[in-house]
Amino acid sequence: MSDRVAPNNLEAFWMPFTANRQFKKAPRMFASAKDMYYKTVDGRTVLDGTAGLWCVNAGHCRPKITEAIRAQAGELDYAPAFQLGHPKAFELANRLVDLAPQGMGHVFYTNSGSESVDTALKIALAYHRVKGQGERFRLIGRERAYHGINFGGTSVGGIVSNRKMFGTLLTGVDHIPHTHLPEKNAFTRGQPEHGADLADTLERIVALHDPSTVAAVIVEPVAGSTGVLIPPKGYLQRLREICDKHGILLIFDEVITGFGRIGAPFAAEYFGVTPDIMTTAKGLTNGVIPMGAVFVRDEIHDAFMHGPEHMIEFMHGYTYSGNPIASAAGLATLETYQDEGLLTRAKELSPYWEEQLHSLKDCPHVIDIRNLGLIGAIELEPIAGEPTKRAFSAFLKAYDDGLLIRTTGDIIALSPPLIISKAEIDELFDKLRKVLMNNI
Ligand SMILES: Cc1ncc(COP(=O)(O)O)c(C=O)c1O
Repeated sequence: MSDRVAPNNLEAFWMPFTANRQFKKAPRMFASAKDMYYKTVDGRTVLDGTAGLWCVNAGHCRPKITEAIRAQAGELDYAPAFQLGHPKAFELANRLVDLAPQGMGHVFYTNSGSESVDTALKIALAYHRVKGQGERFRLIGRERAYHGINFGGTSVGGIVSNRKMFGTLLTGVDHIPHTHLPEKNAFTRGQPEHGADLADTLERIVALHDPSTVAAVIVEPVAGSTGVLIPPKGYLQRLREICDKHGILLIFDEVITGFGRIGAPFAAEYFGVTPDIMTTAKGLTNGVIPMGAVFVRDEIHDAFMHGPEHMIEFMHGYTYSGNPIASAAGLATLETYQDEGLLTRAKELSPYWEEQLHSLKDCPHVIDIRNLGLIGAIELEPIAGEPTKRAFSAFLKAYDDGLLIRTTGDIIALSPPLIISKAEIDELFDKLRKVLMNNI
């Protein structure tokens, strides 16, 4: 074996969303995980403050999920997803729509959040076309939105660094303003008071393009990856009203808010605003096996069910849509959530979480703290001329001290597994306080 392919050579793997050269000089590797904790390859314990990447909502290596995957792999490993099926994909779909807001009775399976987003955008465009309104081709996203990294999601997304390298992306896309108003809302607990009026910009953008050309508006009910932006009170309701007024579909990207993150199965239920389409992934299988699901209102699904019965109604799908092992993992995950009340646990824990999180207000360089459900963010003052460096060094220090946090820009984002105990919340914030006090 040559040096180039030696098993401990880190060079060949071009890592995603990673500072590759920095990582490969000082790798951070996990060897195992159980419940709230990772073990590193050098035997250290790391408290998971981020549920992996916002996905391991039930904690790590949960027995029901592990066993379901093991059993399914030995019974039916794969079944073609096109023109054929297997019972568990249907069973899971039924269980999922039971959790969803009233009237969202159908799901389309994908393998990731990015695929869910692109699927949702395609459903929106195709829906208008089958309804005889093919001139509705425009898609509207929001500044600072993250909708994954496929072309559709990147186009409606609003993170400059994720967009600027990739040419023109989709045409016919516009963006409404983000809702981050630190000068008015800094250190708000829960939903901010100010900013609902920013939804009215949608009226202006829609008027600019003419409402009859707009297919859909997509937003994260709570933006996560871009630094935890909580919707101002009344903001989502206003978006819903404007979309209704103009016959525009409203898509909620619930890839991180889905499956209990803010104290209800979905953010749509928490905020009392029902979208037309809802994208999910991550927590659907507890992050264990790739799977996503796009929920649609019945009327949207039914609009496709016309024409000769032998014809495919929607020309879209993935080799692994509804994969048997992913379906088994999804069923076992939902069972675990339900057995342990995890889909609403964030609501019970959030007052304690909020209190402990906001107790970090006096730490150096903290310029804002925000929270909802079991999500928290601490925004740090950037080092002059070196944006992102302060938060990244907090991430490295936290890892060395046995705590996994996530950073985006100069913002620390927290989203622990929903099984976290009060003692573990204390441990998390004790560790984080030490990091923040340590000259970062
Ligand atoms: C709101 C949102 N949409 C889409 C995605 C993309 O998901 P994936 O990484 O599974 O493609 C993410 C990932 O963090 C997300 O937070």
